Amino acid sequence: MRDTLTAPPPRTQVPLRHLTHPDDLDRALIERLLQSAAVFERNAPDNRLRGRLLATLFYEPSTRTRFSFEAAMHRLGGQVLSAENAGTDSSAAKGESLADAVRVVSGYVDAIVLRHPEPGAAQRAARAAEAAVINAGDGPSHHPTQALLDLYTIQKELGRLDHLRVGLMGDLRHGRTARSLALLLSRFPENELVLISPPGLRMGADVLDALGGLTRIETSGLSDVVPELDVLYQTRIQAERFDSAAEYERYRGVYVVTPEVMNRLPEHAIVMHPLPRVGEIDPQVDVDPRAAYFRQARNGLWIRMAVLDWALEA
Ligand code: CP
Repeated sequence: MRDTLTAPPPRTQVPLRHLTHPDDLDRALIERLLQSAAVFERNAPDNRLRGRLLATLFYEPSTRTRFSFEAAMHRLGGQVLSAENAGTDSSAAKGESLADAVRVVSGYVDAIVLRHPEPGAAQRAARAAEAAVINAGDGPSHHPTQALLDLYTIQKELGRLDHLRVGLMGDLRHGRTARSLALLLSRFPENELVLISPPGLRMGADVLDALGGLTRIETSGLSDVVPELDVLYQTRIQAERFDSAAEYERYRGVYVVTPEVMNRLPEHAIVMHPLPRVGEIDPQVDVDPRAAYFRQARNGLWIRMAVLDWALEA
């Protein structure tokens, strides 16, 4: 490691480029990151982050986000320190605060990718950090890099990010991916959201109030709206977000994308899902060319290369 790393980041390196909330992403930055991701997808990696070091601090489980960030850093020539169970395997288990942990770790690395169960954790971490902080999901609040890869997927699959009717479905109260995506879609003109959820799992007013002039419809019914959609964005009912198993069971399986649903979906439309899925998309749907969710997961690599390149730009 000593042969390839640069010196620790200078403490005077300001301003740091944090990405902690969709509010950090205006349309110009979104478009820059999507263009950069497309370049990374087309071209061979070029080691531009050689000598830079990333820490991934994950206080909640992850497959896609952590692996794609770590793969992105390696593919750009950088190196990674990983705490995949930071809640139990770091000094958090001894009671150390998140702010103290981030302050210390940020002295060793150039950037921190943080997943944490508390809303606002990444923003608090950024205030304590001496390195760039990237939000990899803060509880039920937001997941901005997932929303970026979702936009990248929509643009690749449908050729545009405007004049779209997007159905966000499932647990929109706790669904950080849907909440972040709604905000990013509002940056582009003439989009419409169809918010499909049980009344108890409606999207929060904090997001709805921030959508500006974006047209939105709230409904509990799936079948009537499916023929009108360009994107059906399914989400998981998240057992870990409910106060009791009984409350989770009340909603489990409320919406399932089946071959019958696909029969009603337009030929040009796509089905997306941030994954993991636990029963809310029938695996029979996977062979349908409109099933974009595994392509979507792969797109996370290019977007995270673009985000790291931006955050660590010299
Ligand atoms: N979509 C997503 O955030 O997946 P992981 O929880 O596996 O990172």
